[in-house]
Amino acid sequence: MCGIVGIVGHSPVAPLIVDALKRLEYRGYDSAGVATIERGELSRRRAEGKLVNLERRLRDEPLDGNIGIGHTRWATHGVPNETNAHPHFSNGVAIVHNGIIENFAELRDELQRDGYVFASQTDTEVVAHLVARELAAGRKPVEAAYNALKRLQGAFALAIMFRGDEDLIVGARNGPPLAVGHGDGEMFLGSDAIALAPFTNSITYLEDGDWAVIRRNEILIFDMEGKAVERKRQQSIGTSFLVDKGNYRHFMQKEIHEQPEVIGHTLAHYVDFTKGEAKALELPFDFASLDRIAVSACGTAYLAGLIGKYWFERFARLPVDIDIASEFRYREMPIVKNSAAFFVSQSGETADTLASLRYCRQAGVPIGAIVNVRESTIARESDVVLPTLAGPEIGVASTKAFTCQLSVLASLALRAAAARGTITPEDEKSMVRSLSEVPRIATQVLKLESQIEQVARELSHYKHVLYLGRDTNYPLAMEGALKLKEISYIHAEGYAAGELKHGPIALIDEHMPVIVIAPHDRIFEKTVSNMQEVAARGGKIILITDTKGAASATVNTLETIVLPDVPEFVAPIVYALPIQMLAYWTAVFMGTDVDQPRNLAKSVTVE
Ligand code: AGP
Repeated sequence: MCGIVGIVGHSPVAPLIVDALKRLEYRGYDSAGVATIERGELSRRRAEGKLVNLERRLRDEPLDGNIGIGHTRWATHGVPNETNAHPHFSNGVAIVHNGIIENFAELRDELQRDGYVFASQTDTEVVAHLVARELAAGRKPVEAAYNALKRLQGAFALAIMFRGDEDLIVGARNGPPLAVGHGDGEMFLGSDAIALAPFTNSITYLEDGDWAVIRRNEILIFDMEGKAVERKRQQSIGTSFLVDKGNYRHFMQKEIHEQPEVIGHTLAHYVDFTKGEAKALELPFDFASLDRIAVSACGTAYLAGLIGKYWFERFARLPVDIDIASEFRYREMPIVKNSAAFFVSQSGETADTLASLRYCRQAGVPIGAIVNVRESTIARESDVVLPTLAGPEIGVASTKAFTCQLSVLASLALRAAAARGTITPEDEKSMVRSLSEVPRIATQVLKLESQIEQVARELSHYKHVLYLGRDTNYPLAMEGALKLKEISYIHAEGYAAGELKHGPIALIDEHMPVIVIAPHDRIFEKTVSNMQEVAARGGKIILITDTKGAASATVNTLETIVLPDVPEFVAPIVYALPIQMLAYWTAVFMGTDVDQPRNLAKSVTVE
């Protein structure tokens, strides 16, 4: 899930490419590189680590040239060092790649037998050599690129440039996204419209199997049979977005604080607060006659889906099968008639989620996408797009997208419940009222930040942390653990509180803080019993609850974080905030790279 850029321009492109790469850094940040054509010759600068290293390199050794390609990498094959950084070269061919060439080992053996010497450990380098071999056999650049593409198996978005041709980039897509940008006497290529936002908002998305010949005054698109194809040109909505931390120290902190506003926007899209009902949506199915729903997603989006399952089943009496997308795509689940499938994804580009969607598409199930990026592949391949209105999320750790996903799922469950007659109109009104209170309560919760900061200071001294919760607080416990792991690198697990005695209780001692998420709900007393089991074994409890819960929990805690009272239905949305702040501040105390934690990328477009 690297990011790629290409520009056929009319002024030096290296600074523009770096600017575009900054917008793509969410896709990977292990290393970066730029290549241009200067006076007919290919030149490149590459650097290990973040883009700032490449910028420094370019300051010392600038690159000239009005055509160029660039790359920011998330390593799949080969360690993240300068040699493995893109662009890769071979005899007059320069290439950048996002994805995985699955048959690279076989191609590498074949190319080595033909005398090609590999400089890197990457799968990408085979593509450069394949194209170069075609050129050596007398083929013209475009034909050479096409012949090479036909040999590739796997997932790829590619940009290819040729020595001596300052008016040609070949782009290709099979899997990972690729957008072509139309300019005036200049053309662009990028992994998404946001990368190209400063240059143009006139975008054409390539479809799987498409490849494009990009010149200053013309873009031609072909399919894998070599047939010219027409693809819609559209106005991108990404242009208004400014990558800016405002007054915050990190994007993650800013995004946590944006939640009252973006949750409000999202809810207003799905719920009519005045009428007190969930809005009727144009859906490719009728909730009233559905027998089942399938939900599939990854990471935080999966955990949002899991909370949605509790809501759909409890309120709409509609059974939900939910799967981690990387499992769903291969387990050959029989698709039930009269069902619908929902795919939850911030980026809308996650490879496993997209593959699950395509599995359901083949089975002929109506498909809904709950996505944050409306122009994403998952959105485009769905029957109905159910947007989260979180705005661009830059921090790798998902925060505001998660609570917006929950807002959409809660509204949909409400809509389903009303359509199926499993709640009364009075229930619906009262649940809508609960939803309407979330932005205000979220604002109050954010005021607890300094207390949470102090708890985080303590937490940062431990190596392992356990999160416990019941009902919707169980997926939330898993989300808390995931958040802590990914940005602080502290080992953490989220468990169903009732499951503690079936194994994890063996871990409890004074070195294992236990974070219990327990609003005073209908099963609060059960969770209190589990806390007692922890306390009896010397475990240190950090309790996140409400005023009633704090008053009636008969257990000594290391710290109790008291949230405003909140209706049970919407508690998971509100309780997400303290666990996000806890992870954020712990990571700050650990001194990690909060927005770009090691080994991760924001958008995972490989398996
Ligand atoms: C969340 O903090 C993670 N970085 C990760 O689990 C993420 O939610 C997952 O990769 C799914 O991404 P998506 O929502 O873009 O599909």
